[in-house]
Amino acid sequence: MSKPKRYTITTALPYTNGPIHIGHLAGVYVPADIYARYLRLTGNEVVFIGGSDEHGVPITIKAKNEGVTPQDIVDKYHAIIKKSFEDFGITYDNYSRTSAQIHHDTASEFFKTLDAKGEFIEETTEQLYDEEANQFLADRFVVGTCPNCGYEESYGDQCENCGTSHNATDLINPKSAITGNTPTLKRTKHWFLPLDKHEAFLKEWILEGHKKDWKSNVYGQCKSWIDDGLRPRAVTRDLDWGIPVPAEGGEGKVLYVWFDAPIGYISSTKEWAEREGKGWEPYWKDKDTKLVHFIGKDNIVFHCIIFPAMLKAEGNYILPENVPANEFLNLEGNKLSTSKNWAVWLPEYLEEFPGQQDVLRYALNANAPETKDNDFTWKDFQARNNNELVAIFGNFINRVVVLTNKYYAGIVPEPSEFTEVDEETLAAVKAYPDVIASSIERYRFREAGQELMNLARLGNKYLADAEPWKVIKEDEARTKTIMYLALQIASALATLSEPFLPFTSTKLKNILCHSALDAESTWNDITTKEVLLPAGHQIGKAELLFSKIEDTTIQKQLDKLEASKKVNEAANKTVEPQKDTITFEDFTKLDIRVGTILEAEKMPKTKKLLKLKVDTGIDTRTIVSGIAESFSAEEVVGKRVTVLVNLAPRALRGVESQGMILMTETPEGKLVFVNPDSEHVVSNGLKIS
Ligand code: 2FM
Ligand code: ZN
Repeated sequence: MSKPKRYTITTALPYTNGPIHIGHLAGVYVPADIYARYLRLTGNEVVFIGGSDEHGVPITIKAKNEGVTPQDIVDKYHAIIKKSFEDFGITYDNYSRTSAQIHHDTASEFFKTLDAKGEFIEETTEQLYDEEANQFLADRFVVGTCPNCGYEESYGDQCENCGTSHNATDLINPKSAITGNTPTLKRTKHWFLPLDKHEAFLKEWILEGHKKDWKSNVYGQCKSWIDDGLRPRAVTRDLDWGIPVPAEGGEGKVLYVWFDAPIGYISSTKEWAEREGKGWEPYWKDKDTKLVHFIGKDNIVFHCIIFPAMLKAEGNYILPENVPANEFLNLEGNKLSTSKNWAVWLPEYLEEFPGQQDVLRYALNANAPETKDNDFTWKDFQARNNNELVAIFGNFINRVVVLTNKYYAGIVPEPSEFTEVDEETLAAVKAYPDVIASSIERYRFREAGQELMNLARLGNKYLADAEPWKVIKEDEARTKTIMYLALQIASALATLSEPFLPFTSTKLKNILCHSALDAESTWNDITTKEVLLPAGHQIGKAELLFSKIEDTTIQKQLDKLEASKKVNEAANKTVEPQKDTITFEDFTKLDIRVGTILEAEKMPKTKKLLKLKVDTGIDTRTIVSGIAESFSAEEVVGKRVTVLVNLAPRALRGVESQGMILMTETPEGKLVFVNPDSEHVVSNGLKIS
């Protein structure tokens, strides 16, 4: 473990145009919170900074779509997002917002400093313009083909497919996202940050300085950017939502959202410092401070190239020591998508899994997209909970607490001589703080979380092998030693689990009555202290830390996703053109009757087929129907249906089908029965009454 230091930890400021989902939590906020909590526990000076990104085109577009003002949108989602972070135990020292006055002032000052230092190029160039909407098109107001990868839905400033950041005028075949029109070009003045001027410094700082310690995905993206050659980037926009450009000729223009947002880290730090009566500058200007940005991979260029170039140009700021960006999290095999409602939203999760924040934190961390895109599945979530949190961690703690209460009225017993296994177990426990710390310090949070579970495994195995419930019958002294040692492991778990399972850690510390100890153990105490829970210390009663998640609960979540899929499919469905005309004579050949389904069973080894027994009014016959994906056997029994009775019989999977149940699809793509209106025979005589 290294010497205490000062850390400024930042997390990407989420756009306030929607709630937060599991992808955000897994990629940015859980790892950052693990890091911040760990650093605090190991005695470092930490400021952990967050806030809402309230400017930018996505917010304006959402406001337009909903017929409200951008301020309405940001007020609504800032509150929702902030609450989600609180609910999930993200321990920000300050959570601010970029619409705050302190941020407007800080970003304006920053711009003015660079302007005064001659760090911008002012240039009038031709920019994309939508004549109908009477508006310049930048960023997400324009889509077109990415000049880098050919993706046809690239935005004006960044391609979501390859991650490349570009100028809107670079797009091939651009189209206005407002009207769909092809934009024209119109001259307008903007301020550009000449990234090319900083190329030599960026090369040295990143390519030479951080080759070894930055994650390979981050380093790789930076290298390819720098190798491609850097060009001036506009840092102002012709928009009306944002921070007004504080310069002559800046009327009607605002700062580019990616210019102001990262400055939000600084303004949020200032807001915190003012509130705490501290100075903010050491956190941003002292060379000994370590600045770490937690972000997703689509933000790499802004945090590794553009923001550092801005900080360097200003001249007084430190640069990030690391930018441990994660890849993306998918959900059940598909990209998370707000528009397709293919997501697990945090407020919804909490409604359905109340009090189970740690389960999600744990499952997301165990599957975090640290080195490649990864998939979240509900089955994995269930398995992480049932097989690890319940069966290992929870089971160990429960046994220790229950047995201590049963044998010793909850008082930590006096141990006697340790056996070799005891000594080895104790030595292994004492090694864990360093093992976990080493993973965290290398930003390997998944590995760190698994090491924590390994400590619980060790405890579980120790108890299972030592079998105090058997030993108590013949050797009381030995039982006391076993339980004493198991209690030390439980106490170590209470402390070491805090970064990963903060709610559980608090609960466990309460059960073990940590607050009654002379001094509560820190991270490092676990290695150095002889005793964590001394003999004679009273612990509390057992409480369940985790509970089993049943298949039905998981199925409910899968059904919800299936419903989203159906809605999306229906939205994308092209309506089949009308078939060729048939004559009245053709139609009269059909003998259509009203029948009742008497019995139904799923055909084995088929996905779609139900075998039905149908009373047609003439007879009872077998009909095989391909409706099993839309209806269960149980729900169709007793249903009155319309049956084509004179269709030539045919064998389906070895069963002769003697007719057809008439079905049709709604415009939404849902399969429905053609419902008979009455009990009368509807045959070629068309007696529909
Ligand atoms: O990608 C996003 O959601 C951006 N709002 C992240 C901004 S990070 C920072 F620079 F503020
Ligand atoms: Zn691309």
